[in-house]
Amino acid sequence: MSDRAARVAELEAYHRDEVAVCTRCPLSEGRTQVVVGSGDLSADLMFVGEAPGYHEDAQGIPFVGASGKLLGTLLEGIGLTRDDVFVANVLKCRPPGNRDPQPAEIRECEPHLFRQVALLRPRLICTLGNFATKLLSGRPDGISRVHGHELPIRIGGHATLLYPLYHPAAALYTRSMLSTLEADFARIPGLLAGAAPDGGPAPARAEPPAPPVAVAPAAPADATAGPPPGRVESDEQLGLF
Ligand code: URA
Repeated sequence: MSDRAARVAELEAYHRDEVAVCTRCPLSEGRTQVVVGSGDLSADLMFVGEAPGYHEDAQGIPFVGASGKLLGTLLEGIGLTRDDVFVANVLKCRPPGNRDPQPAEIRECEPHLFRQVALLRPRLICTLGNFATKLLSGRPDGISRVHGHELPIRIGGHATLLYPLYHPAAALYTRSMLSTLEADFARIPGLLAGAAPDGGPAPARAEPPAPPVAVAPAAPADATAGPPPGRVESDEQLGLF
Protein backbone atom coordinates (compact mmCIF):
# COMPACT_ATOMS: atom_id res chain seq x y z
CA MET A 1 0.00 0.00 0.00
CA SER A 2 1.34 3.43 -0.89
CA ASP A 3 2.03 5.96 1.83
CA ARG A 4 -0.87 8.08 0.59
CA ALA A 5 -3.29 5.12 0.58
CA ALA A 6 -2.17 4.23 4.09
CA ARG A 7 -2.86 7.78 5.27
CA VAL A 8 -6.31 7.75 3.67
CA ALA A 9 -7.10 4.49 5.47
CA GLU A 10 -5.81 5.92 8.75
CA LEU A 11 -7.84 9.10 8.29
CA GLU A 12 -10.99 7.07 7.59
CA ALA A 13 -10.40 5.04 10.72
CA TYR A 14 -9.69 8.18 12.75
CA HIS A 15 -12.90 9.79 11.55
CA ARG A 16 -14.92 6.68 12.37
CA ASP A 17 -13.33 5.69 15.67
CA GLU A 18 -12.41 9.04 17.22
CA VAL A 19 -14.24 11.98 15.65
CA ALA A 20 -17.68 10.56 14.90
CA VAL A 21 -18.07 9.30 18.46
CA CYS A 22 -16.32 12.18 20.24
CA THR A 23 -17.64 13.29 23.63
CA ARG A 24 -14.74 15.54 24.62
CA CYS A 25 -16.92 18.57 25.20
CA PRO A 26 -20.55 19.31 26.07
CA LEU A 27 -21.39 20.17 22.45
CA SER A 28 -21.65 16.42 21.95
CA GLU A 29 -24.81 16.44 24.07
CA GLY A 30 -26.74 18.80 21.82
CA ARG A 31 -25.63 17.67 18.40
CA THR A 32 -27.63 15.65 15.93
CA GLN A 33 -24.41 14.22 14.56
CA VAL A 34 -20.72 15.00 14.34
CA VAL A 35 -19.73 16.86 11.19
CA VAL A 36 -16.42 15.18 10.57
CA GLY A 37 -15.58 16.69 7.20
CA SER A 38 -16.23 15.87 3.57
CA GLY A 39 -14.55 15.51 0.22
CA ASP A 40 -11.38 13.92 -1.08
CA LEU A 41 -9.38 12.29 1.71
CA SER A 42 -6.22 12.67 -0.35
CA ALA A 43 -6.85 16.23 -1.54
CA ASP A 44 -4.02 18.70 -1.99
CA LEU A 45 -6.37 21.51 -1.06
CA MET A 46 -8.19 21.75 2.27
CA PHE A 47 -10.71 24.30 3.50
CA VAL A 48 -11.29 24.87 7.18
CA GLY A 49 -14.38 26.71 8.38
CA GLU A 50 -15.68 27.50 11.82
CA ALA A 51 -18.36 25.10 13.03
CA PRO A 52 -21.42 23.27 11.78
CA GLY A 53 -24.64 25.25 11.62
CA TYR A 54 -28.23 24.07 11.57
CA HIS A 55 -28.14 22.39 8.17
CA GLU A 56 -24.69 20.85 8.68
CA ASP A 57 -25.77 19.35 12.00
CA ALA A 58 -28.86 17.92 10.32
CA GLN A 59 -27.05 16.49 7.30
CA GLY A 60 -23.65 15.64 8.80
CA ILE A 61 -21.82 17.48 6.01
CA PRO A 62 -19.93 20.78 6.33
CA PHE A 63 -20.96 23.85 4.35
CA VAL A 64 -24.33 22.74 3.03
CA GLY A 65 -26.15 25.99 3.89
CA ALA A 66 -26.04 29.29 2.03
CA SER A 67 -22.34 29.87 2.62
CA GLY A 68 -21.69 26.33 1.41
CA LYS A 69 -23.48 27.21 -1.80
CA LEU A 70 -21.22 30.23 -2.19
CA LEU A 71 -18.17 28.09 -1.43
CA GLY A 72 -19.24 25.78 -4.26
CA THR A 73 -19.66 28.72 -6.64
CA LEU A 74 -16.25 30.13 -5.71
CA LEU A 75 -14.66 26.71 -6.27
CA GLU A 76 -16.39 26.43 -9.62
CA GLY A 77 -14.89 29.80 -10.52
CA ILE A 78 -11.42 28.31 -10.24
CA GLY A 79 -12.32 25.07 -12.00
CA LEU A 80 -12.80 22.90 -8.92
CA THR A 81 -15.67 21.10 -7.22
CA ARG A 82 -16.28 20.06 -3.63
CA ASP A 83 -15.15 16.56 -4.63
CA ASP A 84 -11.68 17.89 -5.45
CA VAL A 85 -11.05 19.30 -1.98
CA PHE A 86 -11.45 18.34 1.66
CA VAL A 87 -13.64 20.56 3.80
CA ALA A 88 -13.67 20.54 7.60
CA ASN A 89 -14.33 22.88 10.50
CA VAL A 90 -12.55 23.97 13.67
CA LEU A 91 -15.45 22.54 15.68
CA LYS A 92 -17.03 19.27 14.63
CA CYS A 93 -20.28 19.79 16.54
CA ARG A 94 -22.80 22.60 16.26
CA PRO A 95 -22.68 25.25 18.98
CA PRO A 96 -26.17 25.93 20.30
CA GLY A 97 -27.91 28.65 18.35
CA ASN A 98 -24.87 28.88 16.09
CA ARG A 99 -23.03 31.02 18.62
CA ASP A 100 -19.28 31.53 18.29
CA PRO A 101 -17.04 28.65 19.34
CA GLN A 102 -15.86 29.04 22.92
CA PRO A 103 -12.17 28.77 23.86
CA ALA A 104 -12.69 25.53 25.81
CA GLU A 105 -14.55 23.97 22.89
CA ILE A 106 -11.75 24.88 20.51
CA ARG A 107 -9.18 23.44 22.91
CA GLU A 108 -11.04 20.14 23.13
CA CYS A 109 -11.78 19.87 19.42
CA GLU A 110 -8.53 21.10 17.89
CA PRO A 111 -6.69 17.76 18.16
CA HIS A 112 -9.17 16.41 15.62
CA LEU A 113 -8.36 19.14 13.11
CA PHE A 114 -4.62 18.86 13.65
CA ARG A 115 -4.81 15.10 13.16
CA GLN A 116 -6.85 15.56 9.99
CA VAL A 117 -4.23 17.95 8.62
CA ALA A 118 -1.38 15.66 9.65
CA LEU A 119 -2.93 12.67 7.86
CA LEU A 120 -4.25 14.54 4.83
CA ARG A 121 -1.05 16.53 4.35
CA PRO A 122 -2.64 19.10 2.05
CA ARG A 123 -0.33 21.34 0.06
CA LEU A 124 -2.58 24.32 0.68
CA ILE A 125 -4.94 25.00 3.56
CA CYS A 126 -7.49 27.76 3.04
CA THR A 127 -8.84 28.95 6.35
CA LEU A 128 -12.27 30.54 6.16
CA GLY A 129 -12.67 33.32 8.69
CA ASN A 130 -11.10 34.24 11.98
CA PHE A 131 -11.40 31.09 14.03
CA ALA A 132 -9.69 28.73 11.61
CA THR A 133 -7.09 31.32 10.66
CA LYS A 134 -6.05 32.09 14.24
CA LEU A 135 -6.01 28.44 15.22
CA LEU A 136 -3.89 27.18 12.33
CA SER A 137 -1.60 30.20 12.04
CA GLY A 138 -0.98 30.29 15.77
CA ARG A 139 -1.20 34.06 15.45
CA PRO A 140 -3.73 36.54 16.79
CA ASP A 141 -4.02 38.62 13.60
CA GLY A 142 -7.59 39.06 12.41
CA ILE A 143 -8.81 37.96 9.01
CA SER A 144 -9.32 41.52 7.76
CA ARG A 145 -5.55 42.00 8.03
CA VAL A 146 -4.28 38.65 6.84
CA HIS A 147 -6.74 37.48 4.18
CA GLY A 148 -5.07 36.82 0.84
CA HIS A 149 -1.61 36.52 2.39
CA GLU A 150 -0.18 33.02 2.30
CA LEU A 151 1.86 31.84 5.26
CA PRO A 152 4.18 28.82 5.32
CA ILE A 153 3.52 26.71 8.40
CA ARG A 154 4.33 23.23 9.70
CA ILE A 155 1.73 20.87 11.08
CA GLY A 156 2.38 17.31 12.19
CA GLY A 157 5.97 17.59 11.02
CA HIS A 158 5.00 18.60 7.50
CA ALA A 159 5.33 21.87 5.71
CA THR A 160 2.24 23.36 4.18
CA LEU A 161 0.96 26.70 3.03
CA LEU A 162 -1.79 28.47 4.94
CA TYR A 163 -3.98 30.83 2.93
CA PRO A 164 -6.47 32.81 5.00
CA LEU A 165 -9.71 33.85 3.33
CA TYR A 166 -12.82 35.65 4.45
CA HIS A 167 -15.55 33.28 5.52
CA PRO A 168 -18.13 32.97 2.71
CA ALA A 169 -20.81 34.03 5.18
CA ALA A 170 -19.01 37.37 5.49
CA ALA A 171 -19.54 37.92 1.78
CA LEU A 172 -23.21 37.03 2.15
CA TYR A 173 -23.67 39.59 4.90
CA THR A 174 -21.44 42.25 3.38
CA ARG A 175 -21.77 41.97 -0.35
CA SER A 176 -18.78 44.24 -1.04
CA MET A 177 -16.60 41.51 0.40
CA LEU A 178 -17.56 39.15 -2.37
CA SER A 179 -15.17 40.70 -4.87
CA THR A 180 -12.36 40.48 -2.30
CA LEU A 181 -13.15 36.84 -1.70
CA GLU A 182 -13.27 36.17 -5.44
CA ALA A 183 -9.93 37.90 -5.94
CA ASP A 184 -8.37 35.91 -3.10
CA PHE A 185 -9.85 32.69 -4.51
CA ALA A 186 -8.38 33.46 -7.92
CA ARG A 187 -4.88 33.03 -6.48
CA ILE A 188 -5.56 29.48 -5.25
CA PRO A 189 -4.57 27.62 -8.47
CA GLY A 190 -1.27 29.48 -8.61
CA LEU A 191 -0.53 28.85 -4.96
CA LEU A 192 -1.36 25.17 -5.41
CA ALA A 193 0.88 24.91 -8.45
CA GLY A 194 3.70 26.57 -6.57
CA ALA A 195 3.39 24.44 -3.48
CA ALA A 196 5.93 21.60 -3.35
CA PRO A 197 4.66 18.02 -2.87
CA ASP A 198 5.55 18.16 0.79
CA GLY A 199 3.41 21.21 1.18
CA GLY A 200 5.39 24.08 -0.20
CA PRO A 201 7.98 26.49 0.91
CA ALA A 202 8.27 26.00 4.62
CA PRO A 203 10.15 28.36 6.84
CA ALA A 204 13.00 27.09 8.94
CA ARG A 205 11.05 27.28 12.12
CA ALA A 206 9.67 24.82 14.57
CA GLU A 207 6.15 23.46 14.71
CA PRO A 208 3.64 26.19 15.31
CA PRO A 209 3.25 26.92 18.98
CA ALA A 210 0.44 25.33 20.87
CA PRO A 211 -2.25 27.12 18.96
CA PRO A 212 -3.72 30.07 20.77
CA VAL A 213 -7.37 30.20 21.43
CA ALA A 214 -9.09 32.17 18.76
CA VAL A 215 -10.99 35.21 19.84
CA ALA A 216 -13.06 37.00 17.28
CA PRO A 217 -14.27 40.54 17.64
CA ALA A 218 -17.84 40.93 18.74
CA ALA A 219 -20.30 40.56 15.94
CA PRO A 220 -24.05 40.72 15.63
CA ALA A 221 -25.74 37.75 17.20
CA ASP A 222 -27.68 35.20 15.26
CA ALA A 223 -28.70 32.99 18.11
CA THR A 224 -31.55 31.14 16.56
CA ALA A 225 -32.30 27.50 17.15
CA GLY A 226 -32.99 26.92 13.50
CA PRO A 227 -33.12 28.90 10.32
CA PRO A 228 -35.49 31.82 10.78
CA PRO A 229 -37.39 32.98 7.74
CA GLY A 230 -36.20 35.91 5.72
CA ARG A 231 -32.53 35.88 6.65
CA VAL A 232 -29.96 35.52 3.92
CA GLU A 233 -27.83 33.17 6.00
CA SER A 234 -29.56 31.81 9.00
CA ASP A 235 -27.24 28.95 9.78
CA GLU A 236 -23.97 30.76 10.03
CA GLN A 237 -21.86 32.04 12.85
CA LEU A 238 -21.05 35.69 12.68
CA GLY A 239 -17.62 36.01 14.23
CA LEU A 240 -16.31 36.36 10.76
CA PHE A 241 -14.46 39.60 10.51
N1 URA B 1 -20.99 25.66 7.74
C1 URA B 1 -19.87 25.03 8.15
O1 URA B 1 -19.75 23.81 8.04
N2 URA B 1 -18.91 25.76 8.67
C2 URA B 1 -18.98 27.09 8.79
O2 URA B 1 -18.02 27.70 9.25
C3 URA B 1 -20.16 27.71 8.36
C4 URA B 1 -21.15 26.97 7.83
